[in-house]
Amino acid sequence: MGVGISDRGEGRPIAVVVLAAGQGSRMNSDLPKPLHKLGGVPLIAHALHAAGGLSPARIVVVTGHGAEAVEKTVADLAPWAECVRQTEQLGTGHAVLQAAPILADFAGDVIVLYADTPFITEQTLAAMQAARARHDIVVLGFEAADPGRYGRLILDGDRLLRIVEAKDATAAERAVTLCNSGLMAGDAATMLRLLATVGNQNAAGEYYLTDLPALAMAEGLSATAILCPEGETLGINSRAELAQAEIAFQTARRAEMQAAGVTMQAPDSVIFAQDTWVGRDAEIEPHVVFGPGVTIESGARIRAFSHLEGCHVSAGAVIGPYARLRPGAEIGNDARIGNFVEVKEAQIAEGAKVNHLSYIGDADIGERSNIGAGTITCNYDGVMKHRTTIGRDVFVGSNTMLVAPVSLGDRAMTASGSVITEDVAPGALALARAKQVNKPGLAIRLMERLRAIKAGRKG
Ligand code: UD1
Ligand code: CA
Repeated sequence: MGVGISDRGEGRPIAVVVLAAGQGSRMNSDLPKPLHKLGGVPLIAHALHAAGGLSPARIVVVTGHGAEAVEKTVADLAPWAECVRQTEQLGTGHAVLQAAPILADFAGDVIVLYADTPFITEQTLAAMQAARARHDIVVLGFEAADPGRYGRLILDGDRLLRIVEAKDATAAERAVTLCNSGLMAGDAATMLRLLATVGNQNAAGEYYLTDLPALAMAEGLSATAILCPEGETLGINSRAELAQAEIAFQTARRAEMQAAGVTMQAPDSVIFAQDTWVGRDAEIEPHVVFGPGVTIESGARIRAFSHLEGCHVSAGAVIGPYARLRPGAEIGNDARIGNFVEVKEAQIAEGAKVNHLSYIGDADIGERSNIGAGTITCNYDGVMKHRTTIGRDVFVGSNTMLVAPVSLGDRAMTASGSVITEDVAPGALALARAKQVNKPGLAIRLMERLRAIKAGRKG
């Protein structure tokens, strides 16, 4: 009995099942493979991002190896996703079956993704969905340059007869270069029902997800494969593959940035994160690194050797060279953050300047205020963090220590070298340093005495 046409096609609710339980032993790592980073975010974030593109009704992540850490990351990245544990890693089919209890009453399609396959595009997933209108099971395949250990797709026209794992393949089957990416889509109830019948009588002694097409065919259902470029199905199994994937990721992001109107003199030296957003006509100088969560508005300029994460830079602002923007840094229009300046959890308002050798943390700096070289917000007392509030048009003298909590009113000034521990009223000048004393001739007399002592020792 074939499945009715109502069980197929686009517009059905989707449950994405992300497989993330495997050990990833070839990574040779204590960190679970889904948590290794690509483009500044964990591999699993890429899978969740791809899943999100399908507007799924459910996302189920199958965890196992390093489950607690993986589940915590999933909860941070996609709190609506559900995790199920596969306590023993008995194969990809067994892994998907772990989702059966929580999908028991789910009517719709399942799409299986891997946590370690980060380059799948929205178009490819849409093509899989479209193919579901004509077939019960849709597998994503690719033409492999080196088929190696991939499962082989055995096709008859567009009918996928079965998938043979490399370990189980005959020499003739191993010669097939059309391979399985691992992604599979089909009606949830049908896939889970068939999976319950999968055995482990094979070379690996595992329950293979890849047995599904043949089981579907045997019931008179239809299976097919659609193809995508090999680069999209790139799976990560080792540090070398992770590094290769990072290169591929960065190459693609740089090209996207250039197409979006971003100027880079040395694009190969700029490192982007998965979610970096840069506006048109912004300029990124050489050797700039973006961690996650950065947005740069049009026309901003990020000068060489700067490091940015979790921050926002407004139009016309200039950052660096050699600046560090940490999470919570909000840089206003036309503001300046210069060399060897670190900004964390701080708002720098329009036109304000922090040009040299400063640390600004847990602070608000008002419009047009100028923060002198070497100024530091002393925000941490060893236990708690405190805020520094600086008004508009304030002039903070060089090497001012602002011992938080403290505030400087609009148009206030601090004398250079001051240690400011009390609030400064608007328009006031705060002087908080020892008074200077000059002793005429003492420098020369002191030097002569020291030289005489040194000469006496030699004699
Ligand atoms: C699998 C496919 C193979 C395909 C290849 C593509 C099977 C039997 N084989 O092989 O046809 O060419 O992917 O990369 O499906 N996982 C679990 N629990 C398990 C086993 C695996 O969650 O018990 C997860 C892994 O974490 C990983 C994914 O499933 O994300 C694939 O597992 P892996 O062992 O790498 O499969 P391959 O042997 O590469
Ligand atoms: Ca693999």
